[in-house]
Amino acid sequence: MHTAPSQNMRAAVVTRYGAPEVVEVCTLPRPALGDTDVLIRVCATTVSSGDARVRGRRVPEGMGLLMRLALGWSRPRNPILGTDCSGVVEAVGAKVSRVKPGDAVVAFTGATMGAHAEFVRVSGAAPIAPKPARLTHGEAASLLFGGITAYHYLHRAAQLAARDRVLIVGAAGAVGSAAVQLAHLAGAHVTAVCRSVNHARVTGLGADAAIDYTRDDFTRGEARYDVIFDCVGATDYAACAKALAPGGRLLRAVAGLGAQLAAPFQGRLSGHRVIAGVTPELQTDLDRLMALAASGALRPVIDDTLGLEDVVAAHRRVDEGHKRGNLVLLLDPR
Ligand SMILES: NC(=O)c1ccc[n+]([C@@H]2O[C@H](COP(=O)([O-])OP(=O)(O)OC[C@H]3O[C@@H](n4cnc5c(N)ncnc54)[C@H](OP(=O)(O)O)[C@@H]3O)[C@@H](O)[C@H]2O)c1
Repeated sequence: MHTAPSQNMRAAVVTRYGAPEVVEVCTLPRPALGDTDVLIRVCATTVSSGDARVRGRRVPEGMGLLMRLALGWSRPRNPILGTDCSGVVEAVGAKVSRVKPGDAVVAFTGATMGAHAEFVRVSGAAPIAPKPARLTHGEAASLLFGGITAYHYLHRAAQLAARDRVLIVGAAGAVGSAAVQLAHLAGAHVTAVCRSVNHARVTGLGADAAIDYTRDDFTRGEARYDVIFDCVGATDYAACAKALAPGGRLLRAVAGLGAQLAAPFQGRLSGHRVIAGVTPELQTDLDRLMALAASGALRPVIDDTLGLEDVVAAHRRVDEGHKRGNLVLLLDPR
């Protein structure tokens, strides 16, 4: 079937699991629009730790088979990665009335991915919200992946309270930099764990104290925390138990299958809770995040902004494991 050139798009395509170099920029047909779909012209998206995990087939222990079944056996079923975007609605299906062409929006594509392209199709039922006018598309996109994860863990899972003592491990990354801000905004006392080169940055986001994990081990210190949020999979309950206050919660954004199954039963005798698992991307949480961003309370943290042609460099940077906040891919600088 002939496809008119104007109906094509550029996209970053992963042809097999592997190193950053398996990502290629190609020209493909734009996604077809169904009655319940929204087609978004992507202005900005991010290359997240999640994208790099899928590309490199690097999954937490015990999750390899599940991931291959869910995402594709020898290559991602959808070769276009990317789970978040900020852009402009290009077209809507006949049954969609919540947004209209021309609306500036942020959205999650979820497990179907596809946002590392000039156009992405999302379900009309997907989390979609107006882009806060004060933010550029790059800034708005940078708030999504880490923001929704941090919001889910701190507010929904741990039910964070004002004056809780919160320790955030991996505070300089995408999830961590959002978590520092959200915990600070909730009135918690925040201790950030990251290398000292990042301490000024995390205190600027609201951390009250910072620990350099290359020099000090918080699990051996005297301080006690109501919430320990391990954003990067650096610790576990056995190591953290002593550092948790009575009623304390350990949040594990990265946990293997065994750890996820064990989490509901761990710490009970000590009055602790361990929470792990995949973050659901909920419309209500996206709306709250965007309200915080619209007021200026939640601020973008951007490691670098690159073009689609630089997508391999973006994956390399994420693979280093030391990005500060978010890696933005800018497709349309409007
Ligand atoms: N459960 C879920 O639904 C969910 C959702 C989103 C993400 N995740 C997972 O969460 C993890 C973090 O995601 P992310 O996007 O925040 O990653 P990221 O942005 O790539 O994290 C990079 C940061 O990790 C820090 N770091 C590395 N090793 C550390 C250590 N041992 N202790 C403390 N900090 C360390 C680095 O800080 P320094 O440079 O200071 O070392 C760097 O700033 C990923 O593995 C991702 O797959 C899970």
